[in-house]
Amino acid sequence: MSLKKSVTFLHSKNGIACLSSRASSWWSGVPMGPPDVILGVTEAFKRDNNPKKINLGVGAYRDDDGKPYVLPCVRKAEEKLRAKNLDHEYAPIGGTAEFCKHSIELALGEGSEVVQNGLNATIQGISGTGSLRVAAAFLNGFFPGNKVVYLPNPSWGNHTPLFKHSGLEVKSYRYYDPSTCGLDFAGALDDISKIPEKSIVLLHACAHNPTGVDPTKEQWAELSNLIKKKNLFPFFDMAYQGFATGSVDNDAFAVRHFIKEGHKIALCQSYAKNMGLYGQRAGAFSITADSKEESDRVMSQIKILIRALYSNPPLHGARIVTEILGDPQLRADWLKEVKGMADRIISVRTKLRDNLKKEGSIKSWEHITNQIGMFCFTGMNAQQVERLTKEFSIYLTKDGRISMAGVTSKNVEYLAHGIHQVTK
Ligand SMILES: Cc1ncc(COP(=O)(O)O)c(C=O)c1O
Repeated sequence: MSLKKSVTFLHSKNGIACLSSRASSWWSGVPMGPPDVILGVTEAFKRDNNPKKINLGVGAYRDDDGKPYVLPCVRKAEEKLRAKNLDHEYAPIGGTAEFCKHSIELALGEGSEVVQNGLNATIQGISGTGSLRVAAAFLNGFFPGNKVVYLPNPSWGNHTPLFKHSGLEVKSYRYYDPSTCGLDFAGALDDISKIPEKSIVLLHACAHNPTGVDPTKEQWAELSNLIKKKNLFPFFDMAYQGFATGSVDNDAFAVRHFIKEGHKIALCQSYAKNMGLYGQRAGAFSITADSKEESDRVMSQIKILIRALYSNPPLHGARIVTEILGDPQLRADWLKEVKGMADRIISVRTKLRDNLKKEGSIKSWEHITNQIGMFCFTGMNAQQVERLTKEFSIYLTKDGRISMAGVTSKNVEYLAHGIHQVTK
């Protein structure tokens, strides 16, 4: 018998309890969830008729005309794929061996000893998020220490729900200093030194989201020493390799340094930003192990988890990545194109700072050019953000984060004008 027909229930109308014979539903107890913060910003932007409106909420690259950008090397790779007339059979559970080898070598460097000795268990994940989700499931199942992941404060908004959903506990360590709009390095060292040993520490490998604040090479070296001394497990989220400084090697410094120092790490990679493959969902997750035999055992368990989660990953994005990284010409094109994106972002940072000065702002906006990657934590408070949106139709999240990718040579003056008006 269906529940719908059998239930007569009590409900409240204007505070008065009523008996009702209206059919019940399985989902009548499901509360409305809050809308996604970033999508909410975009919805409000779409409704605005001001021709000068700017959307700085979304974390996706735009060209200098504010348009989505498909990398020419991606177009070429797609043409090559079309000519191959490939089938649409299932991918292996962990993605193809070729894709995984290219990915881990991109992170650790060509000729990496870890790869040569088979010490990495690497799988294709569903972009960065899916890779993190598999990583979290693996750590929840097999991490031999405290199932607690320590995040920098603040961190990417999806880290906390993702880790909690996987069963891990989430705590934080100091990272950002609002008084300088820079790194609270002393705070980070102090907090990390107090984390109980055998816990997991999440590190943004480069272009920290949302702050755009990264440690220097020397600071990374200190973090590596401390994390080793405290017997903590470093877990790198690398969603922006190449996108930060324009060099994939430079941006992999932290990961490679930790490996050189003997750490065993977890690593998640994404091709969303650096290849512009946002909707294609190509990424990777790796664990590095002490021996080939150990990495094989780890791999076997990761595959069991993936099989139950989504069986096997999507093909197309991973094929594009494999074409690009496996073809010397396409790879060289890609390295130039990713640098082109990074350079545009770096140049609009300078333009924004210069224009704020031109507007007459006497505040220090040095952090705009000190920060790196897709995002800039401007230091504006929620009230200033609200005014910027109401009075200037400039849309961003309440925390004052702007996506530099939405800033162009055409809208930067207007943006600087708006920011100056609400912060002077
Ligand atoms: C720090 C960080 N990790 C992971 C991701 C995941 O991105 P995607 O799933 O689109 O690859 C993002 C995207 O914004 C990010 O900023």
